[in-house]
Amino acid sequence: MSEIFVSTHPLVLHDLSILRDRTTGPVAFRAALHRVSLLLLQAATADLPTRKIIVQTPLESAEGLTLNARVGFAPILRAGLGMVDAALTVLPEAEVWHLGFYRDETTLQPVKYYSPLGQRPLPEVMILLDPMLATGGSAVAAITELKRHGARQVKFVGVLAAPEGIARVREAHPEVSIYLAAVDRALNEHGYILPGLGDAGDRQFGTG
Ligand code: PRP
Ligand code: URA
Repeated sequence: MSEIFVSTHPLVLHDLSILRDRTTGPVAFRAALHRVSLLLLQAATADLPTRKIIVQTPLESAEGLTLNARVGFAPILRAGLGMVDAALTVLPEAEVWHLGFYRDETTLQPVKYYSPLGQRPLPEVMILLDPMLATGGSAVAAITELKRHGARQVKFVGVLAAPEGIARVREAHPEVSIYLAAVDRALNEHGYILPGLGDAGDRQFGTG
């Protein structure tokens, strides 16, 4: 059963205000994005499958659990890059499959410019990373690609979404769970989330 998880964690909401603030520079922006990503990834990984194991402690044996799925992260370039360190902190053994999509500024359609998919089998659980779900075009295209290349389960971890973006992903890929810090009011005529945080790639990398 898929879900739309919108965090109410005070630390997520605190950092979201830092991300929104136009005076936050790239260094503080990247740090806040990292912290928000850590907490959202905790929610997104809460239902990963496990299996029982026996481990030997220095004193005796103990029953424990170990992860029972191959997991991969798929950051959408560029903005998803700022979530990768957090993802690998949570799951250091996970594979990272970078996907290059940019939004055409006129049509707002996603344009694919880099994909390593097809080189070898994908992990069965793929977690897409992109802070912004605006029209939903980039996320839908990326999820379609991941499924086409064999991902059995896809999750989306973002930070901010517009209602339009959520609706578009739900319509195209209803089985995909979405994890967010907030759902904002609307999109403007240029496809930017309102009130939003601006261009997530530019704000991370100082190119705005
Ligand atoms: C941003 C963002 C998403 C996309 C969301 O990327 O990181 O990938 O826009 O918009 P959508 O939901 O309408 O598709 P952008 O195209 O600005 O590229 P960048 O990360 O390289 O700046
Ligand atoms: N991409 C961004 O970086 N910000 C938005 O508000 C919309 C798309």
